[in-house]
Amino acid sequence: MGQLLVALDVESGARALELTRLLRGVVDGVKVGSRLFTLEGPTLVRQLVDAGAKVFLDLKFHDIPNTVAQAVEAAVLTGAWMINVHASGGVPMMQAAARAGAEAAARAGRPRPLIIGVTVLTSMDQATLREGGIDRSVLEHVLALARLAQQAGLDGVVASPQETAAIRAAHGPTFAIVTPGIRGASAGAEKNDQTRTMGPAEAVKAGASYLVVGRPIIGAPDPRAAAAAIVAELGIGDQGSGIGDRGSGIPDP
Ligand code: C5P
Repeated sequence: MGQLLVALDVESGARALELTRLLRGVVDGVKVGSRLFTLEGPTLVRQLVDAGAKVFLDLKFHDIPNTVAQAVEAAVLTGAWMINVHASGGVPMMQAAARAGAEAAARAGRPRPLIIGVTVLTSMDQATLREGGIDRSVLEHVLALARLAQQAGLDGVVASPQETAAIRAAHGPTFAIVTPGIRGASAGAEKNDQTRTMGPAEAVKAGASYLVVGRPIIGAPDPRAAAAAIVAELGIGDQGSGIGDRGSGIPDP
């Protein structure tokens, strides 16, 4: 499985489908966030899945366990490959999500989606944590939430590339670590609003399982070339006869 997921942070389902087709064979999956989902709903997720894309449904559920379980069940019915919940929702909430994901997938005869816990948002720092009554460091808090996510039976976490090495060291090789905040090297010099960033190869070296990259790809004049440059940096772009042959989540037509 490849590692590059593109964040479809765009204004319409039509553009999301167009980008997905354009990036076919280069990226390994697409991320649908709350804006696109609120605009276009589960129909778009199903269209992307039908187009052969692996879809990371990034809706960051955070509610009482029963409500999160029902939301996860609904997400499974869209065919999403990866779903996330806030780890700060607590172990019972995460356990309910994991159970609902497995049960709903079994009922629907589909593969179980990966369920990932969001640790600390990359927009938060020590001061924001302290305002919320959390006195430990960002790293300690991320590690504590990752521990709870694993305890609850989740498949991994979302974390900034800066915390990836420590999470990998604590949780072993099979725990999925999804990292946004990818900038520098082939992902370009423009940081936008991301602060704690790392280059693609550097993040993978630190232990990232999947990289989520948005604006460096979708905002590029040639998104396919921008994605291909990242794949090449990851050292997997030169296998086979071309980038369309990698057996990625979005097969060539
Ligand atoms: O455009 P950019 O590469 O910054 O996109 C990163 C994507 O990852 C965006 O969709 C953003 O919402 C998401 N994300 C993030 N930081 C988190 C969680 C998600 O940047 N902690």
